[in-house]
Amino acid sequence: MKELMQLYFKRVYYSLMRHGFDKTGLTKSKIIFSNLFLHIHPVKVHRRSLMFKSTMGLGVMSLALFIILTITGVLIMFHYVPSISPGPDGLPDAYGRMLNLRSNLFWGSFIRNMHRWSAHAMVMIVALHMLRVFLTGSYRNGREFNWVVGVILGLLTVLLSYTGYLLPWDQLAYWGVKVGTEIAKIAPGGDIIRGILLGDNDVGQEALLRFYVLHVAVLPIIISIFISIHLFRVRKDGGLAKPADTSKENLIPISECGRVENNSYFKNCRSYQLVEFVKGTEPKVNEEVEQMVFAWPKLIVRETIVIIFITVLMVILSIVFDASLEGPADPNHPTNPAKAPWYFLGLQELVSYHGFIGGVLIPGVLVLFVVLIPYVEMFIETVFKLNRKIVSGVWFHKERLLENSIFLSIYIIMIFLIIMGTFFRGENWSFVYPWALHTGGGH
Ligand code: HEM
Repeated sequence: MKELMQLYFKRVYYSLMRHGFDKTGLTKSKIIFSNLFLHIHPVKVHRRSLMFKSTMGLGVMSLALFIILTITGVLIMFHYVPSISPGPDGLPDAYGRMLNLRSNLFWGSFIRNMHRWSAHAMVMIVALHMLRVFLTGSYRNGREFNWVVGVILGLLTVLLSYTGYLLPWDQLAYWGVKVGTEIAKIAPGGDIIRGILLGDNDVGQEALLRFYVLHVAVLPIIISIFISIHLFRVRKDGGLAKPADTSKENLIPISECGRVENNSYFKNCRSYQLVEFVKGTEPKVNEEVEQMVFAWPKLIVRETIVIIFITVLMVILSIVFDASLEGPADPNHPTNPAKAPWYFLGLQELVSYHGFIGGVLIPGVLVLFVVLIPYVEMFIETVFKLNRKIVSGVWFHKERLLENSIFLSIYIIMIFLIIMGTFFRGENWSFVYPWALHTGGGH
């Protein structure tokens, strides 16, 4: 009977999974390509892709945070109503339900905290991922288009976070969004964008409904589509960027990349896409075949560790720190100073010097510059016939000193402005030392 049951469970298992877990090359391949979630990976990857320094896990962390946000967001949706009409407790319903979620619901506070801290973390991690891609020059050598997809993802991430900011309908949310949409007024055509976003002259019921629909449906769907394109392109662009010759690098020894048995067929070969092979455009033909190792188990285990790390970090943050909820939104009592969300504080700081230059010209030129960087470089190289070696996948390469210095300076200036806006601005946006800062909802 025991053997029959074993046979039965084996048959059930094979109806679910199409592979065993032995160490043959065939099984290692099947694990990757017979699984919907894993088959975005190639069966074999370059040894370099296993190393922390290649990506620091930032792309995978961004993806993990997006998934955490989707799960916790759906759970919050079961409880939330985007309405400012008075609820049973006389408070605006959206706000009252947030209060209720925090105090009366089992795990309500924890779910809300997870959602809030993951949203802030996603903005930060995506920004760091972008910095890593730039400083390693990984947006060149065929990855230019994926950079553009990435920039769009970055902008969508900020927009996703911003539309969520309003939903608790507390003072912080109301005045944060109010300030943000006031900045939009300065831009040419900004009134129209503001009108579309708010659906009214001011932040009110229509705005709450629009932000809600954008936040829970429109933006997540668009981001999901762009993430799919992004990951598909990472694969089709030939995997992670790396220098053409890695023989002088200190890579993880092959012996540590997972034992392979009965590997006669897979030993020295790779699979190519037939059409590209015929056309001779496949990026990996003849490329360091002996450096390729199976993605299972080492790469997948490393990615799992990164996902567990960021999830545990968010869980700890959510247990230790509570996401704030101020008093209900009151359009008649502005907070002073009224501050935009932290990622817009740099912008708000610039606007305080000059509305148009700080709020429109500089950010507009900056976004355009960042989107087009790879194509600007390509243009200069082509038109001026620069016979330049394009290095990608290497941190701070000396050939890229100018580009890296410019990009790093932009980040440093942004961080400086954000710190300035966060800690050194008091009533009426005047300069104040943090220890002398008078906070509260003054007039
Ligand atoms: C929702 C946001 C994003 C997600 C989920 C995401 C995800 C990923 C993942 C998983 C990878 C594989 C390598 C890695 O793990 O780092 C990757 C690579 C890449 N990402 Fe992103 N990314 C996002 C935003 C961005 C942004 C804002 C940029 C740049 C503007 C960007 C540009 C790139 C490029 C060029 C690569 C290829 C890098 C290489 O070959 O080394 N991504 N991304």
